[in-house]
Amino acid sequence: MIFHLKHIDNLRKLYVDQIEHLHSAETQITAALPAMIEKADNPDLKRALQTHLQETREQVSRLEQILREATGKIEPKKNKPIAALVSEAEDMLADSSNEAVRDAAIIAAGQRIEHYEIAAYGTVRDFAEIIGEHTQAALLEKTLEEEKNTDATLNSFSNSANTKADRAA
Ligand SMILES: [Fe+2]
Ligand SMILES: [Fe+2]
Repeated sequence: MIFHLKHIDNLRKLYVDQIEHLHSAETQITAALPAMIEKADNPDLKRALQTHLQETREQVSRLEQILREATGKIEPKKNKPIAALVSEAEDMLADSSNEAVRDAAIIAAGQRIEHYEIAAYGTVRDFAEIIGEHTQAALLEKTLEEEKNTDATLNSFSNSANTKADRAA
């Protein structure tokens, strides 16, 4: 309904809308990570993804806390970019027939997701500050730091993983 799309007429509503989309993003990522963890060959990569799965569950709780405060209900809105990135990640994993290449694919797909999250959380953290929700801003900042750290960790693995993948087959 077009009518439905026009109800966002201030920053607070846009903020809540973005939080609802992020809740969907984190839920989709929580569902997708176990397969990536299982398929990762490098034990350090596996461990880093496992840690991030635990962090992601915590991130879902933070978003739920914010939604409960903001609206009294949790009504996620499907995050289409994350659905596309997760689907791309699944394709990349399915298409990689060598474990070193698969690790390179996991890192590539993972970093795309982290970069989306870094952009999205930076935005909602700023929105929260502007509308005076400083406690919520602090929660979102915590998540933002976790996303940045995960991206940096994946980046630190990428050189050796890509070099190994280059030597494969
Ligand atoms: Fe996340
Ligand atoms: Fe993440």
